[in-house]
Amino acid sequence: MCGIIGYVGFRNARTVSIDCLKRLEYRGYDSAGIGIFNEKIQVFKEVGYISNLEKHIPHIKGCIALAQTRWATHGKVTKINAHPHVSNNEKITIVHNGIIENFKELKQELISKGYEFKSETDSEVFAHLIQDCYKDNIKQAVYDAVQQVKGYYALVVLCADEPDVLIGARKDSPLVIGVGDNENFLASDIPAFLKYTNRVIYLNDGEICRLTSKSIEIFGNDNQPLKREQELISWDVSGAEKTGFPHFMLKEIYEQTDTVHQVIRGRISEIQREVMFPESIESIIKNGSNDIHIVACGTSYYAGLAGKYLIEQLTGKPVFVHLASEYRYYGNYNKNSLIIGVTQSGETLDTIAALKKAKHHGCKTLVVTNVIGSSATRIADGFILTQSGPEIGVAATKTFTAQVLVLLLIALKLGVFNKTIGADSLYQLIQSLKKLPRVVQHVLDQSDHIKKVAEQLVNAHSVFFIGRGINFPLSLEGALKLKEISYIHAEGFAAGELKHGPFALLTEDTPVVAIIGSDETYEKMVSNIGEVKARGPKVIAIAEENDETIKQFVDEVIPYPSNKGGLSCIPIIVIMQLLAYHVADLKECSIDKPRNLAKSVTVE
Ligand code: F6R
Repeated sequence: MCGIIGYVGFRNARTVSIDCLKRLEYRGYDSAGIGIFNEKIQVFKEVGYISNLEKHIPHIKGCIALAQTRWATHGKVTKINAHPHVSNNEKITIVHNGIIENFKELKQELISKGYEFKSETDSEVFAHLIQDCYKDNIKQAVYDAVQQVKGYYALVVLCADEPDVLIGARKDSPLVIGVGDNENFLASDIPAFLKYTNRVIYLNDGEICRLTSKSIEIFGNDNQPLKREQELISWDVSGAEKTGFPHFMLKEIYEQTDTVHQVIRGRISEIQREVMFPESIESIIKNGSNDIHIVACGTSYYAGLAGKYLIEQLTGKPVFVHLASEYRYYGNYNKNSLIIGVTQSGETLDTIAALKKAKHHGCKTLVVTNVIGSSATRIADGFILTQSGPEIGVAATKTFTAQVLVLLLIALKLGVFNKTIGADSLYQLIQSLKKLPRVVQHVLDQSDHIKKVAEQLVNAHSVFFIGRGINFPLSLEGALKLKEISYIHAEGFAAGELKHGPFALLTEDTPVVAIIGSDETYEKMVSNIGEVKARGPKVIAIAEENDETIKQFVDEVIPYPSNKGGLSCIPIIVIMQLLAYHVADLKECSIDKPRNLAKSVTVE
């Protein structure tokens, strides 16, 4: 939530900061602002997208700047509430991502000292508090200020009296240093500056950094200097570009042939008939647990639910899946459990909090994430990367597929350890995994047909998605994709549950998307479709391509390729992503930046 940027170097700071900020727009897009030093700190803010801010900033020179794209938490979406915030003496300028929990007390104290607040935000407290702490050293002032703050923050500070210095500070909100030659960057996320450098330094909680164009200093919780090596990021800069696609989401859907390949690369061996993770990860998977608890939010939660079906089926081990926002408060933490956090960003606050609590109770923790160096990777005992490259579209697509696949690999590894998977079944599954990129391509080739089907959903007020077995969590995900990008109300249901309540909402104007597995759930799904049809709505089936029978029961069929190893969940996911995409595109919605959402949810 909110993206922040700091730049100090030799380039035009206005151009670089706006360029970097645009790559963080997926983190929030209510309003945006920038502060650039040119004789004094000049601040510009606008409501709306960054492109709107860009139009309103004059072409001023300056080689140091800070900027923010906002997702409102405290205070309405207004120009005054947009960042940066400036201290009363106009010397200190800050951008902030996070929440100051004791801001009311701090604000009151500062008001009693004579400070005047302009905005309704909690963040403005930082500007005045740092002014209050400032003597002659901005790094020291930031250190003294953050000691008084309860809550979480990623903070970038520019002081007019030290105009070649940028200060960064973080606690529980992401902030990464990009290391350039004669220039340095601060950003909420790596893709922001990937065009300029792939060398990064991660900051840990409680740390502060002091950047000039030629130097980087890091200070620990105790304000003492620390040594920290830079790391090289292998992500390709094109990962953060649309490369000719109209939307990031569509590009990311199409990247899934490669996503699948990347997830399994080096992790399965046909010859040795093995699933492989590094030793430390295998030991966590093998020794960690009596039972497994998966914690996650949103789409990652649905990936976790799909993972439950896979792990339980292949290992017989009980798996419990929890919404992180609930589990962090009401969870039962048993030190013999393995807690698996599933999080694309590795920064989702609730998931991080649940993982921290699990560690505190002595549980083994493992994280499935897309972002190396993210908070989740630092907290957990081990992490498995989904290796999908940056995902910019707010709606998760390729990372969902990758999460489900990683959970499948964990299931296979556990199955081998527990001897619940025989060599032949493992071999067959490995074969199916290897065929997956082609299977995904086959689905992508059907995009035009899926678009035709999408036309039938464009005017719907509400859409039901139904499925059984693993197709139940997939229907939850299909419904979430549709609702978040097309703004059509959609719900996913276990097909057997309709008659226990949801049928009351079903009218002939409520299209139903039925995911039909060609497995033991088939007959039951056909009966459920019969029950639906008896109430009049149109039924769109997502069914195996050889299934001729289903055509007589439904209005439309989107076929998925047969895959003997039972990995049909992957092509089904891709079909539902394309369906949601085409509906949203036909409705001309803001696909990559749906209203009121942000990609990385770093607030409660
Ligand atoms: C929906 C979506 C969200 C995220 C959720 C968790 O398309 O992307 O529901 O899945 O905010 O985010 P991560 O996976 O970063 O923890």
